[in-house]
Amino acid sequence: MQGKKILLGITGSIAAYKSVYLVRMLVKAGAEVKIIMTPSAKDFVSPLTLSTLSRNPVLVDLFDEQSWSNHVMLGRWADVMLVAPLSCNTIAKMANGQCDNLLLAVYLSATCPVVAAPAMDEDMWHHPATKFNVARLTSFGNKIIPVEKGDLASGLHGDGRMAEPENIVKYLETNFFLTGQLKDKKAIVTAGPTYEPLDPVRFIGNHSSGKMGLAIAKELYSRGADVTLIMGPTHLSFSANGVSLVNVTTADEMYNACMDKFEEADITIMAAAVADYTPINTADEKIKKKENSISIELTKTKDILKALGAKKKNGQVLVGFALETNNEEIYANQKLKEKNTDLIVLNSLNDSGAGFGHDTNKITIFEKGGQVFRFETKSKQAVAKDIIDKIIQLYYA
Ligand code: CTP
Repeated sequence: MQGKKILLGITGSIAAYKSVYLVRMLVKAGAEVKIIMTPSAKDFVSPLTLSTLSRNPVLVDLFDEQSWSNHVMLGRWADVMLVAPLSCNTIAKMANGQCDNLLLAVYLSATCPVVAAPAMDEDMWHHPATKFNVARLTSFGNKIIPVEKGDLASGLHGDGRMAEPENIVKYLETNFFLTGQLKDKKAIVTAGPTYEPLDPVRFIGNHSSGKMGLAIAKELYSRGADVTLIMGPTHLSFSANGVSLVNVTTADEMYNACMDKFEEADITIMAAAVADYTPINTADEKIKKKENSISIELTKTKDILKALGAKKKNGQVLVGFALETNNEEIYANQKLKEKNTDLIVLNSLNDSGAGFGHDTNKITIFEKGGQVFRFETKSKQAVAKDIIDKIIQLYYA
């Protein structure tokens, strides 16, 4: 969804309140959203709310000078025009090519694909006239997201509810934005830190946010892979959106989760900042402040990447990360060999805009045959795209 341009048409239906959630989800997923409302949609939801959430002005009036001159360009700007909710009245107008408001003018001039999520009462939905109009829209090449069954505004229970916003987002992703490059491939991504407990309230951890691994998981998913994201404790608020999420806390839990999934995986990318040491003993009760100094004995955690490298079979692609502060390239090459990986993605803490917590990263990819690929500082989503492009180019082209 990152960077996709979505033109959202909202019509007069009680389901318009769900458009508020829909816009939030689309924007959160990285889409650029522009909104057109029919005049009657304003009775159900406020343009101010929608323009605040979409960070764009909301267009309503056909005769507003700016909107009128824009209506052709809007349909050309968008990757997809989504009408949600689509009322019974607007279905009929769209099916007959009527043009008495801005939304309809944009629809008729749109060169992008059009998809609609109808919403109405059950009897209206099942009326032959509605069926006829929906069939007409489909025959024009428009796509219809099926209505859902449930409680209706009339108090009745049945067909006619607009699809839930998360289902609409999923529909857009699957039908318009996912590429099939990694279809039928299974992928594992690790992300975030691990926390190693000292006692019930304290732990040893690190500043990893999980952003890089999350961006990689989303990118793999957008290429059609079946993705499992094994995530250490994170403060990130995110929706996994099609990615299977396994939450872990300690290095040992991450090891077990990876071992569990690795045999099946075609691609494994270890972006997690796994703790290298863990306390030998974890106190059952809170450690009290008695002594002036205390020593805590630590032992090495299992090196997950190395263990996976030892199990790796032909055809499996294994990618590690290296976060270094000095002798970056030497250490990256060492890790490539010692951990038997196909690629090591190096990020150096000496590069500004790279590393923990940032929204950007600067990487160099080392390949086991000796090739080196250098990249500029980019957003973590763009870095994820570079990593997956490289994997596809090297192993699946
Ligand atoms: N890694 C791992 N298990 C560990 C430690 C690290 O799987 N117990 C993985 C990380 O996810 C990363 C790669 O190994 O993909 C390199 O991690 P890094 O911390 O840079 O290297 P280490 O092997 O831990 O070595 P050092 O800390 O000495 O640089």
